[in-house]
Parts: sequence; structure tokens; C-alpha cells
Amino acid sequence: MPRRRPLLAGNWKMHGLKSALGEAEAIAAWAEANAARVGVEIALCPPATLLPLLRERLVGGSLRLGAQDCSAEAAFGAFTGELSAGMLADAGADYIIVGHSERRARHGERDADVLAKAENALAAGASPIVCVGETAGERRLGLTLDVVRRQVRGSTPADAPPEALVIAYEPVWAIGAARTPEAADISRIHGVIRAELAGWLKAGRADAVRILYGGSLNPANAALILKAPDVDGGLVGGASLSAASFTAIAAVYGL
Ligand code: PGA
Repeated sequence: MPRRRPLLAGNWKMHGLKSALGEAEAIAAWAEANAARVGVEIALCPPATLLPLLRERLVGGSLRLGAQDCSAEAAFGAFTGELSAGMLADAGADYIIVGHSERRARHGERDADVLAKAENALAAGASPIVCVGETAGERRLGLTLDVVRRQVRGSTPADAPPEALVIAYEPVWAIGAARTPEAADISRIHGVIRAELAGWLKAGRADAVRILYGGSLNPANAALILKAPDVDGGLVGGASLSAASFTAIAAVYGL
């Protein structure tokens, strides 16, 4: 089985002016000093406005950068306000989050849109972080596994190279909610996602795909969740805005 290097990615969402670059640099400094030693890859997904500035400041550093979304359109064109995957990769994105529940819910993105975005990310040389997860209502109805399986197949390019693919399991009811599933449930659902990928990816090798957990990760619950079986890292929202809390989460890999 390939050894998967855990990935801890911060998603700043719509937070961060240029005055927040110092916080990002503090995260980069931690990554420089510790990431290789503790065996974790650290990535930060700031708003696109900060991406090229950070890329310039962090030349040669080990902090990876990502974007939070990209256009479903592949080529340049008359798409006012859109940013293509190629533009984001050009601005410094190694990763592009696609299909976050806030985009699915607030912008009506369907699996087919997320699939197009993931394909565009791969074509641009960036790794898509494909988000999947059930809502509270779907969970109550016992639909968690159905929803997650459908989203995995609908949103993940079947021809994606497994090493370039990241899935983030983010139960919608846990995002920004100060509650999370039990670690054992997260492991079980990640196992279901991996089994689905095994039947879906043309290359097979689903054991090379990193599956992250996201939703209310914080320094207090990180060790339990991130060390659970089949959890290959985390996607961190609120707790990634401060270098102190984000690096405290990253530090669990050194325990
Ligand atoms: P949260 O967000 O850590 O603030 O719950 C996670 C996410 O939406 O990626």
C-alpha cells in the first residue's frame, strides 16, 4: 500500500486582506521548520486576491498554496468575474478546492459543475480537493452514504491520477458548527469513499488518494480525528485563520 503523506489545508474562505499576510507567513514559517520533520504537508487556500502576493513572498518555501474555487469553463472567454483554473495555477495555486458545500448550497453547483472544475484543475496542473458531504437533513434520513457515494462518482474525474486527487469529506452539518462526527464514523465513511473510488477511478489505486476530513476541526479535537484510521489530513476553516490555532492542529502530527 502506498504511504500517503497527510495534507493539512487551511481554507480562509472570504477572510483576509493584505494585512493578514503576516499570519500566512507565520504558518509558512512553521511549515518550513516542522512540516518535513513531522511528516505532514501544509497548504493554505487564501482568497484569490492574496494568492500571487503570497506566492511571491514564499518562493522556494514548503508551504503549498491553493485556491478555493475555479471556473467550470476551461478556456478564456466572456465570463465576467470568473477565474479559470489556469489563471489560479498561474497565480500560484498547487491545489484548487472544488465543490465546497458553501458553493453547492449558495451557488447551486451540481455534481456536473464540480466535475468540470476538477477536470480543469487537473488540466492546469493543480490538484483538485473535491468536497463531498451530507446535510443535516440527509443525515437524519440515513442518506449519508448514498449522498457521499453519488457525489464522489458525480464530482470526481474517473481518469484522475490517484496521486493528484484529494477528496475532502465535509459533513455540512459539522462546518462552522463546533460539532463533528465521532472519529470512528469519519473512518468508516472514508473507507466507503475509498471503496467507491476503487470502483470508479480508471487507474484503480484508490489507496493512493488522500481523503481529508473537514468540519469544525480545532486544536482540541485534531489529535483524535486526524490520527483516526483512513484519515489522510484535514481541511480547516475557522481555525486556519490564526497561525497559532492552525499550527497547533498541524502539530498533532508530531505527537
Ligand atoms: P470549519 O470549515 O473548519 O470552519 O468548520 C471547514 C470547511 O468549510 O472547509
